[in-house]
Amino acid sequence: TTRRKVLVAAGDGIGTEVTAAAVEVLRAVSQRFGLGLELEPALVGGASIAAHGTALTDAVLDRARAADAILFGAVGDPRYDGPDAPDRPERAILALRKQLGLFANLRPVRVDEASAGRSPLRESIVAGTDLLVVRELTGGIYFGQPRGREGERAFDTMVYTAPEIERIAHVAFGLAMRRRKRLTSVDKANVLDTSRLWREVVTRVAANYPEVELEHLLVDACAMDMLRRPTRFDVLVTGNMFGDILTDEASMLPGSMGLMPSASLAPPRPDGTHPGLYEPIHGSAPDIAGQGIANPVATIASAAMLLRSSLGQPEAAAAVEAAIAATLAEGVATVDILGPSQGVSTQTVTEAIVARINPG
Ligand code: NAD
Ligand code: IPM
Ligand code: MN
Repeated sequence: TTRRKVLVAAGDGIGTEVTAAAVEVLRAVSQRFGLGLELEPALVGGASIAAHGTALTDAVLDRARAADAILFGAVGDPRYDGPDAPDRPERAILALRKQLGLFANLRPVRVDEASAGRSPLRESIVAGTDLLVVRELTGGIYFGQPRGREGERAFDTMVYTAPEIERIAHVAFGLAMRRRKRLTSVDKANVLDTSRLWREVVTRVAANYPEVELEHLLVDACAMDMLRRPTRFDVLVTGNMFGDILTDEASMLPGSMGLMPSASLAPPRPDGTHPGLYEPIHGSAPDIAGQGIANPVATIASAAMLLRSSLGQPEAAAAVEAAIAATLAEGVATVDILGPSQGVSTQTVTEAIVARINPG
């Protein structure tokens, strides 16, 4: 099968800027490798609320289902934050994840030589970091029922079932087998029943992967060790909310949210590729939106993951990743990395990456 239909859901704020950058890169890589990519734009989030009164229309959901992959920017708009807003922009990404069954969220964190010296943490601590957070994405407290608000009382429910934990554990063990064969399962089993079940099920699944060394770590201790000794981690597996929080923290190892890509995957198709949605882990960043200074690297690196995992194009993916690494190593980067005096624009970084993919 030739897979090449990509739905491009830019969303709000810097989502539109970083997605435009990744689209330029996808066009260049499509040309160089003859992929014939078809990139179709779609409105989501605040942009969709403004046009249609809802963060995600049925039409866009159908197109997302029909596409071979989705490139997603970010959603979030201060105009639709209040209690009177017709819808919340964030509902778009939550509904896409749930409706498309994208239960496995992969968030890799690597600190290469170029970024080690620019981290807010000491170089000696972060250098050599190469970890992968596997975040469960369609369960837990994000989706548990009941939830609601009764005047001055509000509630959410954290639920996990054994099958939900089992399938994300299999993904994490499988990835650990292809890496350094170490898996850290992160929970709060000293307090939460969901976490006690989590620990029990992950331990059960471990029997299928005798070569993988499994450890259990409480989430608060994990948050601390992530900064104390990040190089000790290989693969981490955790629930929806812990994974959300730990990966924003982990972005400070390489030094910016603008460097952190992600893949959200459903189980593989018969040809081995996955239906998937690819997005930076950061949001719409209203504080810098419209200035042309957002770091596009997280989204461009997400596009590389899309090429590999949903389109089955590992060489094209590697070319994008090499172009990103070379550009950063050369010292071409945005303000979040280099500061206001040396940082360059989104467009300048994008052009440098494109030039390395398609010289000529
Ligand atoms: P944020 O990730 O948008 O921004 C946090 C900080 O990081 C800001 O100072 C921002 O300027 C900076 N930053 C983020 N990405 C950057 C980039 N590429 N380059 C340079 N700097 C970058 O988080 P927030 O401010 O808490 O949230 C803003 C909105 O985004 C909220 O509405 C939130 O719900 C939404 N959000 C959406 C997603 C998503 O669509 N998946 C993810 C996170 C937050
Ligand atoms: C993320 C974001 C989302 C999440 C929000 C916008 C729903 O923070 O992708 O990390 O919490 O999953
Ligand atoms: Mn988040």
